[in-house]
Order: sequence, then C-alpha cells, then structure tokens
Amino acid sequence: MTAGHYQNRDFEDRVNDRSRDTQLRFFVVGDFGSGDDVQARVAGAMAHVAAREPPNFVLGTGDSVYPLVAGGTSNPTPSAAILRERFDPYYERLGIEFFQCLGNEDLVEVFAGDATLMFDHSWNSATWRMPAAHYRVPKLPPWIAIHIADTNVFGHDGTIAEPAFFSESVMACEIEALTETFAGRPGLKILVGHHPIFTAGKRTLRYHGDGELLYMRHLRRAIEDCGVHFYLSGHEHHQSHITGPRCEHITQGCGGARKAPNPKHPRREDGWHDAEKVLCHLEVAAGFAIIEVNSTHQIRLQFIGVGAGEPDQAIRVIYERTWDGLDSIGDARLQRASC
Ligand SMILES: [Fe+2]
Repeated sequence: MTAGHYQNRDFEDRVNDRSRDTQLRFFVVGDFGSGDDVQARVAGAMAHVAAREPPNFVLGTGDSVYPLVAGGTSNPTPSAAILRERFDPYYERLGIEFFQCLGNEDLVEVFAGDATLMFDHSWNSATWRMPAAHYRVPKLPPWIAIHIADTNVFGHDGTIAEPAFFSESVMACEIEALTETFAGRPGLKILVGHHPIFTAGKRTLRYHGDGELLYMRHLRRAIEDCGVHFYLSGHEHHQSHITGPRCEHITQGCGGARKAPNPKHPRREDGWHDAEKVLCHLEVAAGFAIIEVNSTHQIRLQFIGVGAGEPDQAIRVIYERTWDGLDSIGDARLQRASC
C-alpha cells in the first residue's frame, strides 16, 4: 500500500461532516485508559465542560487503554470487549467522536502488538475512531488539516521509540502520509502522535540530555518541512507546552494514567530554554486541553486541571495561551533541527 491510498473512503462516510464550519472546538486528552478513579474524574470533567461548551470532537494522544495491574490481575487475552468495557463507558456520554492514535501501552501491552481490534472498534463504537495506524481526520473545513500518525515506528541514530515496530520503510511511509495530508495546505496544520519530540518531563535528561527525544528526529524534520503548526502528543504523564521555531508542542498525558512524579526523573522548570525550544508551561495535573480555532486562525489553548470533589469546584483552567493568526505561531528566533 502506498501512502496515496491510506485514506479509507468508508471511514470518511463514518464521521460527522464539519466541512462548512467556521470555528471548531476540540478537546485533547491522552494516557487515559487506566480504569481507575482519575480516569473517571477526568471523563466526568470532560462531560461537564462539554455540556456547557460542546466540543466538535476529541483528539486522543494515545495509550487509550492500559494493562490491568490493580490487585495483580493479569491482562486478558486481546479481545473486542476490552475497548467496549474499558473505553466506551467513560466517554460515550459526551456523544462525540474521539479520533485516536496508537500508543505503546495499548498496542504493545494490551493488544500484543496487533492493532486490528482497535481499528475494528471504529465500526462498532459510538465514540472511538481509529481506522488505521495513520490517517487524516476527514470532512474538516478547508482552513484546517489534522493528521494522526503512528509514532511507535520512529527511530534515529540507534535510538528507537518502540523496538518491536521500528523500521526505516514503515517510518518513511508515516512521513509520506503526513506529507500528503499537509502538502499545499494553506491553513492550520495539526499533527497528532503519541511520543513527544521535545519533553520537559521525566525523559528530558535522557538521550542527549537536552530535552529532545532523539528517536523522533525524523518526525521533527517532517514537521519543519511540512510547516506543521501544532504537534499534539502524550506518553509523558503531564500537561506541557513547549514552543519551537514554527510549531507549538503540546503534551497531554494526564487523562487518567499514573501521574505521580518520580523523584528519580527530574523535570524542567517553566521558562527553561535552549537555542531550539522554550518551555512555556509544565504541570503534573490530571486533566485535558481545550483548543478553539476559527477560520481566521485565532486560536485559544487551555489546559484544564481536574481535582477531587464536585465538578464545578474541581475543574480549573491551569494554563491559557492565545495566538492571533498563523504567523504568530512558534518563535522564528529558535533554531531548526541541525541534522
Ligand atoms: Fe506511552
């Protein structure tokens, strides 16, 4: 299969039509399938906010289902029931589509390396949408493009995202597909993948020690080549915003997964920067993000923190940024990938 044939026409028929909308609101949430109290509270907060300010859809940043560990329960054999019992009940009440991407916990640990059941669930769920490992979100208005990538297959210079899945040819196919989605697009370009490119979280001092996950270097170059404006990821269990040369990097990994900071892996402080990136905000707080954008590319980003208690008291905006037009995105004084 070539990248030119990756889009599934049946899937386009499956999703809601937003092609004439002049503004969109969507939630971003990731690392949200632990099945514990935190997932339930974040899901409840999403429903509470959605009742007042309905989103058009949700973008999931991966790790949608975690292995069962509570009480020493072993993982069941992969089956269609896993998503039906451990994903849908939390989110069906929102009544909207979740465009999902592959993580490592769901793909490797829960579904034993075979994503077929996750793809198939797109046809059986009222909310779950993931027709393939990579895909373009269909039926969007012409002023925005959103592409979902499989970042498990990326690697560079001896570092690999997920060893069972890395290959040069599959990685090239991922880059070809996202390039096809974004080529010649004049509007807002949003890419979603599980693994971050820049991180100020527990992985920030690994690899180069400079806050870049080196195995994502090819995706970083593709983002720069394609002019992607926002890269949305998960994997790190925090909410963060890092600005790059022309792209805003948003990590949302606090949808219900284990989130206690590990003192053995220090994080960076807000304001940390080098020649290539600036950490605008990092917080370990259960929650999700809201992005609102209109056809003239006025954009508002909010991070929502979810505590214990009744929703009205528990939900708070912990971070907010706005952009007025595509030219205001990124910081052109920062350097692109050097090699
Ligand atoms: Fe992950």
